[in-house]
Amino acid sequence: MARLTAGMRSAALFILGLSGVINILALTGAFYMMQIYDRALLSGSVPTLVMISVLALGLYTFQGGLDVVRSQILQRLGARFDQRVAPAAHQMTLDMPRFGFSLAEALERGRYVDTLRGFFSGPALVALFDLPWMPVFLAFVFFLHPFLGALTLGGAVFLTCLAVLTELLSRKANRESNRAAVARSTVAEANARNADVIKAMGFSGRALAHFQKVNDEHLRLNSRASGVTGTVGSISKVLRMMLQSAVLGLGAYLTIMGEMSAGAIIAASVAAARALAPIDACIGNWKNIIMAKAAYEKVKETVAALPDETQPMQLPDPTERFDVSGVTVVAPASGKVLLSDISISLEKGQALGLIGPSGGGKSSLMRAMAGVWPVLRGHVRMDGCDLTQWSEDAIGRSFGYLPQDYTLFDTSIARNISRLADPDPEKVIAAARAAGVHEMITALPDGYETDLGSGGINLSGGQTQRLGLARALYGDPFIVLLDEPNSNLDAAGEQAVNAAIHGIKERGGIVVVIAHRSSALEHVDLVGVIQGGQLVNLGPKEDVMRVKPSRTAARSPAADAKPRTEVA
Ligand SMILES: Nc1ncnc2c1ncn2[C@@H]1O[C@H](COP(=O)(O)OP(=O)(O)OP(=O)(O)O)[C@@H](O)[C@H]1O
Ligand SMILES: [Mg+2]
Repeated sequence: MARLTAGMRSAALFILGLSGVINILALTGAFYMMQIYDRALLSGSVPTLVMISVLALGLYTFQGGLDVVRSQILQRLGARFDQRVAPAAHQMTLDMPRFGFSLAEALERGRYVDTLRGFFSGPALVALFDLPWMPVFLAFVFFLHPFLGALTLGGAVFLTCLAVLTELLSRKANRESNRAAVARSTVAEANARNADVIKAMGFSGRALAHFQKVNDEHLRLNSRASGVTGTVGSISKVLRMMLQSAVLGLGAYLTIMGEMSAGAIIAASVAAARALAPIDACIGNWKNIIMAKAAYEKVKETVAALPDETQPMQLPDPTERFDVSGVTVVAPASGKVLLSDISISLEKGQALGLIGPSGGGKSSLMRAMAGVWPVLRGHVRMDGCDLTQWSEDAIGRSFGYLPQDYTLFDTSIARNISRLADPDPEKVIAAARAAGVHEMITALPDGYETDLGSGGINLSGGQTQRLGLARALYGDPFIVLLDEPNSNLDAAGEQAVNAAIHGIKERGGIVVVIAHRSSALEHVDLVGVIQGGQLVNLGPKEDVMRVKPSRTAARSPAADAKPRTEVA
């Protein structure tokens, strides 16, 4: 965090000083009135009036100019902070879903940065910078008359108590309101994602009602939080006006008693108002201040949680082995054990098929193999080195991964295949050919430049899956992990997957493929059966899949494997 806020402290000190000058210049009005009453009016001299008016005009202009400078600086600081912190927050957004956080919670990180940037250019921060200069005005009022000073000080103390009260009353409400906002985004996002299902099965009414419920809850909590601040804010504003009048009244009394001049009455009133204004502004903007504080805490937490930026030492790219040894994986959110003590060793040129009943843990194992989920115990190693010892670049070059629920990015087909890098045409086409999609892509009007973003083209489920496969194959990674790569494919697609697996083996890579249909296991050498979070069987395909002669090859490998597993 220190790195991200570097230079901010000195900027803050500068703005504090600038605020001091602005605040002292803000006494112009008070002085001007004093001079008018006590000098110009008494002497009846027009030239005097003109002179002090010109002076006041100059001071006002200077104050206005400094005010503009201050707000510009604050705005730039906000932008600079955003520029430095937003990428870090986004990096967290990328990591959070892997650890069991909802998408809405992950995206919330980015919004915290927005909140902070808004805070920099809003009125609340200016009020906070003005606050320390309140004593200048108080001293001025004291200087005019101690009684007036005491009255203003009393008012300031009272208003401060109100600010503390606002904090106490709204703290819980603000926290709950924030939580409700996340819950609401979660529902909104799930509804949007299920638009097709909602339309087809006609339950938009219920989906809407579900949203309405969380929206009402958010509204209720938000109103409660704003209500507290609003009410105390109004009370404080009225009190400030009353105090201002009280200063006038007391001033008039003191003037009648001959203790001070008539000009001082107005000056005291203006200065007292100025002294109380920052407290008033803080109370009025309390919600923003609290939100900014909470956002700052979250951002700080985010930045602290980010992995160390130092990349591990460069290791030569793996070429020999991929080992999973004694791996235990727990669910990121619930901590439930999903896989226990799994060990598998693969050498270059080998392909492993993973089979087993639904919910057995195949995809979880693949996530652990890909380093997506951290392992609680055990190791995943390439050429004997744990995945954590490899730099992100090396991992990127060494891994191809097609998850079970793949999605593509809103960009061109070429960039999707090249994993958002500037596409290397040769490598993109090689990957597309290996995935058997080259012809499909070139048949599109824009070919590899076809935009898949909003307003772009929509591909079918099978086409998307094959592009996902091409992305996994891009750059000939040493290890290719395919989670049910044929789930959406026709016979030709399945042939392409098999050919791809064969190709990876031929070039000395390693493939792990999860399949429910044995047709995708044509080229695998080893088969592992995952059931109930355990590797219940592992061996050469012929042994594991050994079927009774009466059974046909079309049977599910999972079903085939089961009897043998029980024997084993
Ligand atoms: N993100 C997650 N958080 C918590 N539990 C999860 C998560 N993903 C999966 N699980 C649990 O892990 C278990 C194994 O799921 P997994 O997706 O690995 O099964 P699978 O063998 O791939 O099944 P399928 O053949 O249906 O794809 C399931 O009980 C599931 O509830
Ligand atoms: Mg799965």
